[in-house]
Amino acid sequence: VEAARGRTGETVPADYFRRLYRKDADPWGFASSEYERSKYRATLAALPRLRYTSGLELGCSIGVFTAMLARRCASLRAVDCSPEAVRAAQLRCSSLAHVWVEECDLAKSFPRGRYDLVTICEIGYYFAPRDLARICDDIAAVLAQAGDLVLVHWTPPVEGHAQTADDVHATFINDERFAVAVSRRTQQYRLDVLSKK
Ligand SMILES: C[S@@+](CC[C@H](N)C(=O)[O-])C[C@H]1O[C@@H](n2cnc3c(N)ncnc32)[C@H](O)[C@@H]1O
Repeated sequence: VEAARGRTGETVPADYFRRLYRKDADPWGFASSEYERSKYRATLAALPRLRYTSGLELGCSIGVFTAMLARRCASLRAVDCSPEAVRAAQLRCSSLAHVWVEECDLAKSFPRGRYDLVTICEIGYYFAPRDLARICDDIAAVLAQAGDLVLVHWTPPVEGHAQTADDVHATFINDERFAVAVSRRTQQYRLDVLSKK
C-alpha cells in the first residue's frame, strides 16, 4: 500500500544491520558515492560553529563522515550497532587519536557524556516513534545548552522504514527543548540544525 511506505511503525532490529554489513562491507556505497560526499559537504557547511569541543555521531556506519566531522571536533565519539561497521570506522579513523568509535544499539542504550554537537543522519527513520522519542530525550540530556543537533534524512518514502524523514525531523522540531537554526531541503534529503535551548 503506497500510503504505508516508509511507515511500518516498528523499529528495524539491530540484527538487520549486523547481517547487512556481514554481506556487504559498504551497503550504501558511502566510500564511493558522489551523492553522499556532496551531502556530507553540505552538512559540514551547515554547522553553525567552526569548531566543537565534543561531538557525538549516532549511526556512524563505516566512518566516512566520521573522518570528515573529526576535523571540526576536538573530540568525537561515534557509535553504530554493527560490529563490522564499527571495526571499519575504527580502521578508517585509526590515525585520529581524538576519535572513539564504539558499538551501541541505540534502541537499547545511549552513550553517556556531555556534547556540544550531536548528529543523527540517515538513522532516525529506523526507529519506532516511541524509541525515537526516548532517543530525543537522551539527546536533550547529553547536549549542552546552545549545543547543536544535526538531522539529515533521505525524504522519498522507503519500504521497511519505521517512519518518514519528515516524521523524524518533526519529532525534534516540535520539541520545545530545541530551536531551529538551519533548515534546508533538496529533492532527495532534508537537513535541519537545531540548537538546544
Ligand atoms: C544509512 S546508514 C547512515 C550512516 C551515516 N550516518 C551516514 O549518514 O552516512 C544507517 C546506520 O545506522 C546504523 N543503525 C541502525 N540502527 C541502529 C541502532 N539501533 N543503533 C545503532 N546504530 C544503528 C546502521 O548500522 C547503519 O550503519
